[in-house]
Amino acid sequence: MTDRVVLIAAYARNGVIGRDGDIPWRIPEDFAHFKATTLGHTLLMGRATFDSIGRPLPGRTTVVLTRDPDWSADGVLVAHTFDEALALAREQPGDVMVAGGAQIYALAQPVATHQILTEVDLDVPDGDTFYPVWDPTEWHETAREEHGTFTWRWLERR
Ligand SMILES: NC(=O)c1ccc[n+]([C@@H]2O[C@H](COP(=O)([O-])OP(=O)(O)OC[C@H]3O[C@@H](n4cnc5c(N)ncnc54)[C@H](OP(=O)(O)O)[C@@H]3O)[C@@H](O)[C@H]2O)c1
Repeated sequence: MTDRVVLIAAYARNGVIGRDGDIPWRIPEDFAHFKATTLGHTLLMGRATFDSIGRPLPGRTTVVLTRDPDWSADGVLVAHTFDEALALAREQPGDVMVAGGAQIYALAQPVATHQILTEVDLDVPDGDTFYPVWDPTEWHETAREEHGTFTWRWLERR
């Protein structure tokens, strides 16, 4: 059982997180950071994000949110409402790590205790999916690492 609900996301300028069902950049260091940060924890994600990854990620428990009562995939837990998904994820190992996409970030934002963000210094004019706007006055930055074309930020709710 965990009280931590961590939003983990990478967004470009203007909050773009996706385009055509995929992430419109490839940053190997950021994939490694996502893996290192989430290993041993529980990922909560929308069905569209699960489809874009295509499989459960090893070393992590995966909870997928869908409205489809018939949807299933090997190696993942399924929930049909956000409250059910959150309760199920809280019972699993480690922290609840909300891994997107936009619909699920928006649902989880009100209950999130932490954010781990990658701010990518890139314009994606044809991006079609966006990280929800968040109020910086409600969050305290506990760490920050600048890496040239991207910045990692760790935030806690005040
Ligand atoms: N840059 C990043 O960090 C990052 C991270 C994750 C994803 N992404 C990108 O984000 C995009 C996908 O995001 P998205 O917002 O389109 O989709 P999503 O949030 O991944 O999934 C949406 C789906 O979740 C289910 N859902 C949503 N609200 C629900 C509710 N209240 N109750 C039950 N089920 C619910 C529905 O599934 P059903 O249709 O099956 O009912 C819905 O179609 C992709 O481009 C992906 O690559 C980027």
